[in-house]
Formats: sequence, C-alpha cells, structure tokens
Amino acid sequence: MAELFEWNDDYNVGVADIDEQHLELVALINQLHDAIRSHKASKQVRRTLDELAEYTRTHFAIEERLMRESNYPDYESHRSYHEALIDQIRALQAKLDGGEASITFELLHFLRTWLIRHICDVDKQFGAYFIAHGSRPEWMVEAHAAMTSRRWWQFWKARA
Ligand SMILES: [Fe+2]
Repeated sequence: MAELFEWNDDYNVGVADIDEQHLELVALINQLHDAIRSHKASKQVRRTLDELAEYTRTHFAIEERLMRESNYPDYESHRSYHEALIDQIRALQAKLDGGEASITFELLHFLRTWLIRHICDVDKQFGAYFIAHGSRPEWMVEAHAAMTSRRWWQFWKARA
C-alpha cells in the first residue's frame, strides 16, 4: 500500500541535519497513518502520536537554536509558526485525554500539508541563509546522534 507521505527531493532544504530530521518526521507521520489504517489499539496509536509530538518539539528546538546562533533575522516569525503547531498538537492531546477527539485521517492530511508548506516556504529560506552564514555547531554531533537513534527525548530533557 502506498505511503501517505512520499518524500520528494524538492523538499530538501540543503542542510543535511535538518533534511534528515524532516525525513524522520515524515516516517513518523507514515507510522501514525499505518497504525490508524491497520486499526491498531488506540493506546498504541496514541503512543505514536505522542512520539511524533516529542520528535517535532525537539526538531523545532534544534532548528531554532541554529537560527539564534547564526543570527537569523526572521527567527521570531519562524519560531511563531513552530509555536502555533505545537499549541495545536497540545490542544489535540488534551482533547484526546478527555475523550473529546480521536486521531483521524484528516489530522494526518493536515500534518502532511503543514509540513510540506512549512519546509518549502520558511525552512528553505532558513536553509539558504544557514548555508551562506552558518556552520555545523559542535553540539550538533550529540543532537544528531540522539535524533537518529530515537533517543531524542533524552537530548531534549538534558537541555530543558
Ligand atoms: Fe521550521
């Protein structure tokens, strides 16, 4: 069966660490899609959503730190897009806790569309800026290891 979210090289922003994290986000969205369409138990679907939410939060924190350290002029507006999505996911998690919502295909399509638009618009702008003005920081070695070995929450907690 086809994946919900097929990666397209047009989505690359040109910064390897960011592109690899975006690929992982796509994999997590597809994992959530698989869990729903194969009628996995709601607990398991919920766990996958929570994992996606944590990964997203950590990915945004890493992007934002790269922006601050490279003095990116559009940092504040870019950050506000991240915050808006995080707020929406938090609101959804609260509704799920209260039994007032369920995880639907509409949600998955929303996440997919949000991510494609965000990457192709503002992440690409930052990617171009970072290639011209930034360089891979020391701390990215640790962050990258955490993000690719699915230990990102430990990285997040260590920084919180
Ligand atoms: Fe971003």
